[in-house]
Amino acid sequence: MIPAVLPTYNRAPLAFVSGQGSWLQAEDGSRYLDLGAGIAVNALGHANPDLVAALTAQAGRIWHVSNLYQIPEQERLADLLVENTFADTVFVTNSGTETAELAIKMARKHHYDAGQPERVEIVAFEGAFHGRSTGAIAAAGSEKMVKGFGPLMPGFRHLKWPASDADHAAIRALCDATGALLILDEVQCGVGRTGRLFAHEWAGITPDIMMVAKGIGGGFPLGAVLATEKAAAGMTAGTHGSTYGGNPLACAVGARVIEIVSDPAFLAEVGRKAGLLRQKLEGLVAAHPEVFDFVRGQGLMLGLKCKVAPADLVAAGYGQHVLTVAAADNTLRLLPPLTITDEEIAEAVRRLDAAATSLETAPAASPV
Ligand SMILES: Cc1ncc(COP(=O)(O)O)c(C=O)c1O
Repeated sequence: MIPAVLPTYNRAPLAFVSGQGSWLQAEDGSRYLDLGAGIAVNALGHANPDLVAALTAQAGRIWHVSNLYQIPEQERLADLLVENTFADTVFVTNSGTETAELAIKMARKHHYDAGQPERVEIVAFEGAFHGRSTGAIAAAGSEKMVKGFGPLMPGFRHLKWPASDADHAAIRALCDATGALLILDEVQCGVGRTGRLFAHEWAGITPDIMMVAKGIGGGFPLGAVLATEKAAAGMTAGTHGSTYGGNPLACAVGARVIEIVSDPAFLAEVGRKAGLLRQKLEGLVAAHPEVFDFVRGQGLMLGLKCKVAPADLVAAGYGQHVLTVAAADNTLRLLPPLTITDEEIAEAVRRLDAAATSLETAPAASPV
């Protein structure tokens, strides 16, 4: 019999009842060190006092009014994003997938309004992930996500990944030369995760449209499309909308997140702690050459390329009460709260070390 919850997830046999900072507490009272942060969502940790205060204060005032009216909390969030980024304007959503949908619509409308309605094709990368709507799976194009869900939205062309530095430079140059819009998906890597407010700042480039979600809500469902005035010019009244998108509760929390994360001192701390974690992970890899291959990633978005199945490591981590996330390309993802402390970093690596040791000594470890 089909379960009451549609069974589209492979869930671990764990349920958490409360959280504090980098720690989650299970039903039986045991504590787990959380290096997944709800897949890069709990950027400021669990039950962050500033965010709890922002949410509860807003909850006592007003929850929802709809976008029929002015929403000061939405304007505050948009103003903060405009002040701190390339963007001139912001549309607030509830999730990352919705930002993909709007990014696609906005880019097409831009060219339509410029008198080039045939200019609909979007170039994307193989193996990417942009969400699970029909538009987002067409944009990513991977067999495992699209199989059985056709016909797909047309108008995407996929380039091989990893792209070379020369390819990246060529894409930027082509955007400038042809007027094609550069859309960046910073749903996972944005909001301080790499040690800059947005990851593209490291590359010295400026997008026309950017998708943001996950960390911006700190655990409250929230996303945003950021755009330049030129890219967004076609999105006039009636061309897009959302019932919940930009509601006061989400925006009150999001504005507080951006206030905290955009502080240069906060971002510098993320960078420092990322260096510490990376250094300790290099030691972990050296200590377990049969289990790990190398460390990859940037800031507090790190991966351990594995020689065993990452799912085995995730499961071994449960045994050591440390939470990690499996990723593609045989990689174990580490996305701790940006507020993780030095002591917690040391503790996390001790627990990962114990998890790796348990796999080395267990006959069931499955080499890949
Ligand atoms: C890079 C990227 N884009 C888009 C999405 C989709 O976001 P959501 O699950 O909030 O719809 C995700 C989610 O994992 C993501 O990592």
